[in-house]
Amino acid sequence: STSTNTELKQGDAYYLPPVPSVKGADTETAIIEAYRIAAAKIVSEAVDIPLETAYPGIDVGNKKADLYVAMPRFRLGGKPDPWAEKVVAHFKPDEYLSKCTSEKGFVSFTLNHDTFTRQVLRQIRNATPSSSLGTSVNPLDKAAQKPGYGSNKSGQGKKAIVEFSSPNIAKPFHAGHLRSTIIGAFLANLYEAHGWEVTRINYLGDWGKQFGLLAVGFQRFGTEEELEANAITHLYHVYVRINQEAEADPSIHDEARAFFKKMEDGDKEALALWSRFRDFSIKRLEETYKRLNIHFDSYAGEAAVKPEKMEEAFKIMQEKNMLVQDKGAYLCDLEKYKLGKVVIKKADGTSIYIARDLGGAAQRYEKYNFDKMIYVVAAQQDLHNKQLFKMLELMGHEWADRLEHVNFGLVMGMSTRKGTVKFLDEILAEAKDSMHEQMAKNEEKYAQVEDPEYTSDVVGQTAVKIQDMSARRINDYTFDIKRMTSFEGDTGPYIQYSHVRLCSIERKNPNIVLPEDVTQIKTELITEPKAKEIIYLLACYPQLVNDAMRDYQASGIVTYMFKLTHAVSSAWETLKVQGQEEELAKARMYLFLCTRDVLASAMRLLSLTPLDRM
Ligand code: ARG
Repeated sequence: STSTNTELKQGDAYYLPPVPSVKGADTETAIIEAYRIAAAKIVSEAVDIPLETAYPGIDVGNKKADLYVAMPRFRLGGKPDPWAEKVVAHFKPDEYLSKCTSEKGFVSFTLNHDTFTRQVLRQIRNATPSSSLGTSVNPLDKAAQKPGYGSNKSGQGKKAIVEFSSPNIAKPFHAGHLRSTIIGAFLANLYEAHGWEVTRINYLGDWGKQFGLLAVGFQRFGTEEELEANAITHLYHVYVRINQEAEADPSIHDEARAFFKKMEDGDKEALALWSRFRDFSIKRLEETYKRLNIHFDSYAGEAAVKPEKMEEAFKIMQEKNMLVQDKGAYLCDLEKYKLGKVVIKKADGTSIYIARDLGGAAQRYEKYNFDKMIYVVAAQQDLHNKQLFKMLELMGHEWADRLEHVNFGLVMGMSTRKGTVKFLDEILAEAKDSMHEQMAKNEEKYAQVEDPEYTSDVVGQTAVKIQDMSARRINDYTFDIKRMTSFEGDTGPYIQYSHVRLCSIERKNPNIVLPEDVTQIKTELITEPKAKEIIYLLACYPQLVNDAMRDYQASGIVTYMFKLTHAVSSAWETLKVQGQEEELAKARMYLFLCTRDVLASAMRLLSLTPLDRM
């Protein structure tokens, strides 16, 4: 049996008698699980079923009660009402539960709010990365970036690769890449929050015959200065222009093919130019990623896939009779699986996208020995990924079932009035400007913000990210700068505002100082229903993080953040800190600071930077 709080003796205010351990219930990271087990124990004893059977039947987060049980689910025979009454008869109030009632076949448990409040807040406090409750987390502090409360160790010792963002050099960083960036960053954080060792890979589109075209274009109208200043935009302009010229003059394409051939043959000069394009582009991208609070461990893109790895994949497929020849090209027939026919090798022998993915997967497995590899790519590439995974499986790779494609829908309404493509930087600039404009309207507050440029940028990105993660991944959504940068409604700015307001409590109450030893805080003074609602929500957060691991939906976390911020905003009046008797003020401040830390934890999980002023 687990020993919750073994360091405490019976009689101590924080002592909780141990509960038996149940598979899947992690009381170390979510104390509410101990309360759930306590309820399960009562049910199991009362109607004589195993604890393991009773436990999943204890419903958390049901509006009807703190802990709610539908007796029919246990299929005990006969009407459920007498069974529910048996549970009530067996119940005795204790440190965990204070009340038990039944209605028809349903049982409601009420938590012992004294112990619950104490335990939940202390668990948050102990798990919060910033060492002092009194200071909010510095966004530049790497250690503090790690999600604290809500994280667990279930994946310890396991390795995950998350491949995301993956733009193509010289082609625009479009909305699909932005979504991949946002969702991928969240998934990588999520795996880390579950104790996994995560490698973030940006699989750059840095190979292919478009580089031949780009090189020809650069030789004609590229400049070193512009390349260094902003490689992404410059190369894109060069690329667009050379494509236009090539329409009138097809010989440009021959030149381009010849250049790419040189690259594939390892020509030093050709590769030197290519690698300058690549390096400058990465440099530019990294600035933007940094701005977005996102980093990568590797930029190994398509070019990094070794030709011998592709050849190896090709050989295995030949040996396994997976290939048919067609006019000099090689195809893999996946009609049997309703996945069509896939060209693996072209007649002219040049490598192609899917072949690079086939070789690349094996190359990564050898390098990282991953337990899980996730590709965060738009739903437009669903077929590509299904084909890829099926072929790797047919090739007999035992790790093929460790691959997962996480897809997402389209962003609509992204083209500007001029009809041009929108670059990532433009999107972020637009969001930032919109926020800056709104902030400037409140002169008094604006004057207190130390760095309005930085602040409006962070709020702007929060707006973009929250809009992206608000609905289920697969849904398309319309990019609407007005709506997402509004302070009204469930938006990113509203979340930042809520966090800022929670941070302001300390500033506004300099005379209320919390003791280092939080067991001295009189949490029993926190009794209002509003406060209970908040504490219950705080207690549920670890489960939310768990759920997200099952469906990879950031929207669950976003919905949670709005529930929490709404609960807080409706509690300011009833839970005043200012002007209260000291012990009460301390207890309430403790509650709000813990709430701030949980909100910040959730924000960081979504790659957001929590602000303390705006
Ligand atoms: N660069 C590709 C694109 O923009 C996305 C890469 C997806 N990842 C992969 N392993 N194929 O369409």
